[in-house]
Amino acid sequence: MTKLKDKVAVITGGNSGIGLATAREFLAQGAKVVITGRRKAAIDEAVRELGDGATGVLADTADLQQIDALVEKVKALYNKVDVLFINAGIGQFFPIEYATEQQFDQIMNVNYKGAYFTLSKFLPLLEDGASVILLSSISATSGMANSSVYGGSKAALNSLAKVASIELAPRKIRVNSVSPGPIDTPIMGKTGLDASAIEQFAGAMREQVPLKRFGISSEVAKLVTFLASDEAAFITGSDYVIDGGIIVNAVL
Ligand SMILES: NC(=O)c1ccc[n+]([C@@H]2O[C@H](COP(=O)([O-])OP(=O)(O)OC[C@H]3O[C@@H](n4cnc5c(N)ncnc54)[C@H](OP(=O)(O)O)[C@@H]3O)[C@@H](O)[C@H]2O)c1
Repeated sequence: MTKLKDKVAVITGGNSGIGLATAREFLAQGAKVVITGRRKAAIDEAVRELGDGATGVLADTADLQQIDALVEKVKALYNKVDVLFINAGIGQFFPIEYATEQQFDQIMNVNYKGAYFTLSKFLPLLEDGASVILLSSISATSGMANSSVYGGSKAALNSLAKVASIELAPRKIRVNSVSPGPIDTPIMGKTGLDASAIEQFAGAMREQVPLKRFGISSEVAKLVTFLASDEAAFITGSDYVIDGGIIVNAVL
């Protein structure tokens, strides 16, 4: 288990769901890992569970000063980053007609602006040959009702991954995006929808997945670990869909 031996990885939003599962996988592959999030108790709990090699930093990715402080902490700890997994994100779903400026700004500030400036501000600390993975969504390329702002924030990430893959190629830094379909994580519980609405949504979604189930965080973590490792040394500027086939959307 040495795919990431001696690598330093930063995972934004690593106290829960896909980020936490990826932190487990990175550590199992020999990396040192820094995780972030906004909830201190959840970060402390995750770091306790992850054990040696894991560090937690409280940092709201929507706040550029907190990104600066995160970069400074990682610099003081390790003075380099080999793997940057930009994963922190929120979901809110509403019809275009009822969108508010506050919802729009909140989603874009976390999912896109935060991701953008995390990449921008970590660039000086990224090793040549580093791997950057942006956590997008099939919402970036599908037309699910109520996902206009969320999907837009993720489509912007896909674009960023492609542009960054060209800008950073001279430093042999690879940049890819990963686009999951429905994955069983705490994210839906944070949308503000009540439990029965979530169950109704999840049931309808499950029926649409050809494999008839939600994915699990560790499945996404294994894909991210592959992209982070030298096994993916010739892969950059690509988007990897992991969705049980839902995006195929067979006509019959
Ligand atoms: N689950 C799915 O079906 C699915 C599908 C496609 C894409 N995704 C994407 O996958 C990523 C991870 O989500 P998840 O499903 O694993 O959900 P999750 O368990 O809710 O994890 C989200 C993580 O992001 C952190 N986060 C949220 N806002 C943040 C902020 N402003 N600053 C710093 N950290 C922040 C959360 O920590 P705090 O709560 O402590 O801030 C948490 O660690 C997201 O980008 C999401 O859009 C999920």
